[in-house]
Amino acid sequence: MRKYKIMNKIKLAAFASHSGSNLQAIIDNIQNGKLNAELVAVISNNSTAYALERARLANIDTFHISSKTHPNEIDYLNTILNILESKKVDFIILAGYMKPIPAEIINKYYNRILNIHPALLPKFGGSGMYGMNVHKAVIESKEKISGATVHIVDEKYDNGKILYQESVNVDENDTPETLAEKVLQIEHKIYSKVIKLISEGKIVL
Ligand code: GRF
Repeated sequence: MRKYKIMNKIKLAAFASHSGSNLQAIIDNIQNGKLNAELVAVISNNSTAYALERARLANIDTFHISSKTHPNEIDYLNTILNILESKKVDFIILAGYMKPIPAEIINKYYNRILNIHPALLPKFGGSGMYGMNVHKAVIESKEKISGATVHIVDEKYDNGKILYQESVNVDENDTPETLAEKVLQIEHKIYSKVIKLISEGKIVL
């Protein structure tokens, strides 16, 4: 297994497609000194993603890169790779990113792409398991607990090594929306926690 050694403050690039509340939690933890990391770029496929606005407000460089802005696949890939390389990114963090990551990026950043998923993987993961679909499925399956998972991204959706999980009770009167809210609160804590453990060398990848 390839090991990655962090020499200085960990440099992160976040990929996000929508609200970016997980991104915000990480920005906040960096700003208040709880997380010794630097967000050097936020990339979105969606020009109206609020995540981009959150990044701009925090003076982080933002990039809108999609198949519309870069219809040529190689150009698309190289544009993203150039940003990651020029900014010397150590880890990519996916925070509600709705596009598949090209295999070339997964290989180049092997073991260095993280994702957060709003359920206790390996349950309720894979194709179609995103957003409210996840919480609906959890409730329909009458699960007593759900939670959030931070994992490594590999070539299969929601399949990579699990780094950290935290659970929450599913109450009888929970709806997908109330469950999503409870899980999101956990997400906001554990994503930064895992990044901190990596930056301190306590999780070695
Ligand atoms: C989160 O629920 C996360 O688990 C999933 O996408 C959602 C993103 O939410 N991967 P936000 O954009 O961070 O608010």
